[in-house]
Amino acid sequence: MSAFAPWSIEQAEVVVNKCASRTGPVLLTLQALQCEFGYVHPDAVPLVARTLNVSRAEVHGVLTYYHDLRTSPAPAHAVRICVAEACQSVGSGAVVQRAEGELGVSMGERSVDAIDLESVYCLGDCALGPAALVDGQLLGRLSPPQIAAVIASLRSESA
Ligand code: FES
Repeated sequence: MSAFAPWSIEQAEVVVNKCASRTGPVLLTLQALQCEFGYVHPDAVPLVARTLNVSRAEVHGVLTYYHDLRTSPAPAHAVRICVAEACQSVGSGAVVQRAEGELGVSMGERSVDAIDLESVYCLGDCALGPAALVDGQLLGRLSPPQIAAVIASLRSESA
């Protein structure tokens, strides 16, 4: 069960209005919306712009500048596989291919069961490549069968 409220424009108005009188309100307001809903719904952009009397472009600029701000709900799980040179030289390509096959998506996409598959460029674990970060946990010396087992384990956690 999510710790976040489901998106609603009415609740978003309450959050935005609370932030309107604060200093530096655009970033604070977007952070407050993310705290409430887990992400910033695209419909919040005109609401924030109108309430804070700034342009939509300014709100959109702040929203896209800060990588910690999300514009879609967080995934159930995140699998980030290193595709930098050292990991590629020891077989990360095969690990990526297996992960894509298991999840039915390409790198940069989300599976139907809300598992994000992303590429990263070096996790600082080059000696133990192929490396991956799975829900924040660093894994090394991954093989294609191991990444398949990791994904199966994530799915059983979610079930
Ligand atoms: S190249 Fe993959 S962890 Fe450094």
